[in-house]
Amino acid sequence: MGRSSVTFGGGAFYEPVLTEMCKTGEMPSTVRIAQLSDTHFAEEEAEAEGGFAYDTSGAFDAVLAHLGDHDHLDLVVVTGDIADHGRPAQYRRAAEAFARFTVPVNVCPGNHDNAMAYTVGMGRPGVSTSRVVSLGAWTFVFVDSNTGVMLDGDAGLPVDPPGEQRLHSNGLLSATEVEWIRQVANNADTEHVFLWLHHPPLVPLGMFDNAHYDQQWLSLLADLPMVRGLGGGHTHIPAEYEVAGRPVFVAPSLKHNFSMEPQSWLPPGYRTFAFEADGSITSETHLVDDERWPRRPFGRLLKSLFDGEITHQEMADIVARRSLPGQ
Ligand SMILES: [Fe+2]
Repeated sequence: MGRSSVTFGGGAFYEPVLTEMCKTGEMPSTVRIAQLSDTHFAEEEAEAEGGFAYDTSGAFDAVLAHLGDHDHLDLVVVTGDIADHGRPAQYRRAAEAFARFTVPVNVCPGNHDNAMAYTVGMGRPGVSTSRVVSLGAWTFVFVDSNTGVMLDGDAGLPVDPPGEQRLHSNGLLSATEVEWIRQVANNADTEHVFLWLHHPPLVPLGMFDNAHYDQQWLSLLADLPMVRGLGGGHTHIPAEYEVAGRPVFVAPSLKHNFSMEPQSWLPPGYRTFAFEADGSITSETHLVDDERWPRRPFGRLLKSLFDGEITHQEMADIVARRSLPGQ
């Protein structure tokens, strides 16, 4: 299915905008979507946030080649951390890359995505920041899980914090976002709802514990039986697990990507999904094996990070010290 078959809702945050399939398009019985996450685009030669990363543009090229001819897809979704530092030039690179897909692309923000640069940089024909997309028997809701990172500006308009303050923030839903999700799900004119977001809730790994956020999702899902599942990123650890009887799918990252059992590096990759009219979902992780991204075991430093012995900041400081000349 090509670009003409899908229409998008307004991109304004916090407005309960619902969309419809293009009346001239045929309702697909199976909705097919590819998901990328944590693309972390950077300027050429830019130093990676955290001190180490794959060449994300090269990883994107490899993912696109691996996906190959994808006209059969209804949509490509990118679930946040589009840019590594949230800078305008990084969104320019990301937007140019996403425009190479032959089907529509819809994105939502992650903790690395400075709101203004993201909003300005992502909008272009074929690449959208819509919050609700309806396709066949499904309504896809794009959640903003980045509450608390913006500052209160004049006239009640939120503004970005200075510098790179938001880069390591965890998931949180505002009361407005919670109510918005409830209203969209309850007013959806499709039988099934699926939620895309950056921060997956209840990640079954201790280092991602986020009790308040997790409780927000348990309460929401208990009230929203039409929600059939969630798709996210953030962890850079592809996974599939269950929350409140619903599957949670976590996509690989292009920046660096890890396995926990056994502890090893993984190549970059993406996910594909088939959403059926009966509400069932199948999804597959695709990793692009290449000599650039060997599946090597963790070194001592990375093991310390994932075992909770050091923080991300401490790791970044150690990496920075090691890369100093003469060290
Ligand atoms: Fe990320």
